[in-house]
Amino acid sequence: MISDPRDPAALQDAVRALQAGELVAFPTETVYGLGADAGNDAAVARVFAAKGRPSDHPLIVHVPDGAAVSRFAADVPAFAQRLIDAFWPGPLTLILPRREGVAPAAAGGHDTIGLRCPSHPVAQALLLACARAEPPVPGLAAPSANRFGRVSPTSAAHVASEFGEGLRVLDGGSCEVGIESAIVDCTRGRPVLLRPGVLTVRQIEAACGEPLARPGEVGREAPRASGTLASHYAPRARVRLMDAAALQAALDVLGEQAEGIATWSRAILQTPSSRVLRRHMPEDAREAARQLFAVLREFDARGVQLIWVEAPPAGADWDGVRDRLQRAAA
Ligand code: TXA
Ligand code: MG
Repeated sequence: MISDPRDPAALQDAVRALQAGELVAFPTETVYGLGADAGNDAAVARVFAAKGRPSDHPLIVHVPDGAAVSRFAADVPAFAQRLIDAFWPGPLTLILPRREGVAPAAAGGHDTIGLRCPSHPVAQALLLACARAEPPVPGLAAPSANRFGRVSPTSAAHVASEFGEGLRVLDGGSCEVGIESAIVDCTRGRPVLLRPGVLTVRQIEAACGEPLARPGEVGREAPRASGTLASHYAPRARVRLMDAAALQAALDVLGEQAEGIATWSRAILQTPSSRVLRRHMPEDAREAARQLFAVLREFDARGVQLIWVEAPPAGADWDGVRDRLQRAAA
């Protein structure tokens, strides 16, 4: 059931459900999360089961503030603390060494833990209420609230369409950021960018004072992370990325025969067939990120078979959108 978190009773009900080991979906500024008490292994197992996600793929633990980090992390390198100071609450997840015995199931058995402090007011209210409850729930393990491999949800209705009416969903409107948080691994001596988000490499490097490495560049292998699999975030329809000229040429070839095709492009395309579903990609990377997953979901809901997307521009501010589109197309 979808409920309005401005109603104090709805928020209290969500806290009670989480204390009892049940699942609650909640909005963050990036995407909606499917939350469970991070310290309750049975509750965390329910998250893996609901998503259909392999249980060795670690979950991000959401905390109300930077002070909660020491509950879960054994050590916070100075550059990681600078990132916390600069970007929390906000769309940045840090991988840190895990405190022994804490949230092993949420961490998928790894000796590290992903931590994030979201800025969405509903996420903040929920996390604070959980932390102050008796017994307290100091952190919520929450992957994106979609089935494994599918597009992340950016509205309460998206979540309901993934999991049905049985799941509690707090409705916080449409997500402002629209793509998942950037993930920086802080366990390898120097920062490693595991997943780009809307924070640019330059912003992250400026805040932590060190260059960001890419996964293969530093020491040991990155743990298998579902958000880093080549094929992920995929709609049912097949996605192809093309430049504007190739996209127009492909439409021209099909002419009036074009059917079951949707396009998302900055260029204005000439489509001879009125059955081609066209959506305009914003010129601004932030705005494109905000719309991306809703557009892919709309195309799926309309039953298109092919989604042709104009490749995003080269700028670093498009890294997050480009990354998600490449995975959707893989
Ligand atoms: O914006 C977000 O990050 C959203 C919202 C709900 O906070 N959450 C999200 O969670 O995208 P999820 O589970 O869909 O993606 C989390 C990513 C996965 O690729 C996971 O493998 C990686 O984070 N991850 C989590 N803990 C990790 C760890 N200890 N080491 C390496 N990767 C980790
Ligand atoms: Mg996900």
